[in-house]
Amino acid sequence: MRKTLRFLLGDEPVEIDACNPTLTVLDWLRLERRMTGSKEGCAEGDCGACTVVVGHLDRGLLRYEAINACIRFLPTLDGCQLLTVEHLKAEDGGLHPVQQAMVECHGSQCGFCTPGFVMSLLALRLNETEPSIGRIEDALAGNLCRCTGYEPIIAAGRRMDEIAPPETDPFLKQRVATAAKLSALQDSKTLALEGQGRRFYAPATLSALAELVAAHPQATLVAGATDVGLWVTKGMKRLDPVIYLGRVEELRAISDEGEHLRFGAMATHVDVREAAAGLSPQLDELMRRFGGEQVRNAGTIGGNIANGSPIGDLPPALIALDATLLLARRVDGGEIERRALPLESFFLDYRKQDRRPGEFVEAVLVPKLPDGALFHVSKVSKRFDEDISAVCGAFRLRLGPDGRVSEARLAYGGMAGIPKRAKAAEAALISQPWGEEAVAAAISALPRDFTPLDDMRASAQYRLRIAGNLLRRFLIETTQADTQTRVAGLLAEAAHG
Ligand SMILES: Cc1cc2nc3c(=O)[nH]c(=O)nc-3n(C[C@H](O)[C@H](O)[C@H](O)COP(=O)(O)OP(=O)(O)OC[C@H]3O[C@@H](n4cnc5c(N)ncnc54)[C@H](O)[C@@H]3O)c2cc1C
Ligand code: FES
Ligand code: FES
Repeated sequence: MRKTLRFLLGDEPVEIDACNPTLTVLDWLRLERRMTGSKEGCAEGDCGACTVVVGHLDRGLLRYEAINACIRFLPTLDGCQLLTVEHLKAEDGGLHPVQQAMVECHGSQCGFCTPGFVMSLLALRLNETEPSIGRIEDALAGNLCRCTGYEPIIAAGRRMDEIAPPETDPFLKQRVATAAKLSALQDSKTLALEGQGRRFYAPATLSALAELVAAHPQATLVAGATDVGLWVTKGMKRLDPVIYLGRVEELRAISDEGEHLRFGAMATHVDVREAAAGLSPQLDELMRRFGGEQVRNAGTIGGNIANGSPIGDLPPALIALDATLLLARRVDGGEIERRALPLESFFLDYRKQDRRPGEFVEAVLVPKLPDGALFHVSKVSKRFDEDISAVCGAFRLRLGPDGRVSEARLAYGGMAGIPKRAKAAEAALISQPWGEEAVAAAISALPRDFTPLDDMRASAQYRLRIAGNLLRRFLIETTQADTQTRVAGLLAEAAHG
């Protein structure tokens, strides 16, 4: 075990021996380090005012990502580099090209949101050259500005690389040296910290993780903390102990295993999107609209499933695709016991999942679409970007040679206490010609499948109406060639600008 948290703050090595496990990066920066450039707007991952950039090694390569410092726990930075707006100041005191671009394009008024926007643009610049407007908008969708308006800020996103090309950026010029420093911080020991009477563990191997979860079955597992972070900042929960999964390399892996893709539980939404993009353009679009970039960089597929939320975006899509969940736990004798189950049967009741003591989600197996299968997923939310679904519908169909439906998997989020299949609606489709009549019958069957709730996101009546309309949209997209082409074009345009 190692008892010291180690990371880089800019270039400065930081070592901390005692730390409250759920101290947020933002509170540490502002209250302990008095680095007040990063702002607190919402403390729940929504506004982006707290955006910082984290550099970490990904299979030996340095990767920079924008994240929300308000919901990220400080000890999860072990082995990483933390960059804040303070680190942009040049040695001669000059502005960084991103800041210069914001000045030239009049991208700031009251300035409260500005450090967050600047850091989101910095992450974009460190990862991509000549980003399209679509990419700039995506990268900024997790940042809110109440006074300037977005056009000047997007213009700054275009201008920054004209002021100085990314390869001249100080952070990229120091990439090799930074990677070497981070490499020296990596080890396979479990990080074990204590602070304010609470314990934090960050194992570096799967077997150490399994051992810890078995020893502390009541521990809170933390992946990207985009849900758990809010339990602390909004729910004021006192978590003890905390087991962080982010140092276990095996859990981050994504692999193509022939008939299916295997996603380690710690695969982030950015990585899931990249790997799953080939499966369907709508899946790509779903992932593009998942939170903001900061949430996609931190949030994981495992967390989206394990939290058991009825309105998580991935579960309906994965259930429609017939995904399998792999759970793991340590049993007596030290062996790791694995259990595979259809994802849909993991969700038992509202916030109740089929997870045994000591078990954690290890991976998700997602079958590729069989030849000739039709697939569609779409989400309806009050706000287009960075909003949770009111309803999410995902459908996979197979048609026989006679055009009749031979297999139907219709899954919805937001319609029940769990993500759930619409079995009565599926039955209404089976053996019917894929067309308006069958879809009308399926829509009429939906009230037998679901009695949705009224809540602030949508009324029950609206949810039922939308659930049917999404099915109708699926029919239109799969039967009208010109619509298909138009929709694909619109999606591509939206994604790439
Ligand atoms: C601003 C904002 C926007 C969001 N937008 C969306 C959205 O558009 N769509 C959407 O679906 N969600 C959204 N979310 C919710 C959240 O981002 C997702 O649910 C995310 O996938 C959670 O993953 P995580 O890695 O952050 O999980 P964490 O917060 O770390 O954990 C979530 C839960 O899963 C458990 N857990 C995590 N990993 C494992 C594991 N391997 N085994 C067992 N248990 C585990 C944790 O103990 C906890 O109970 C949003 C959140 C925020 C803050
Ligand atoms: S303070 Fe609003 S996202 Fe962090
Ligand atoms: S400049 Fe005031 S909130 Fe953006």
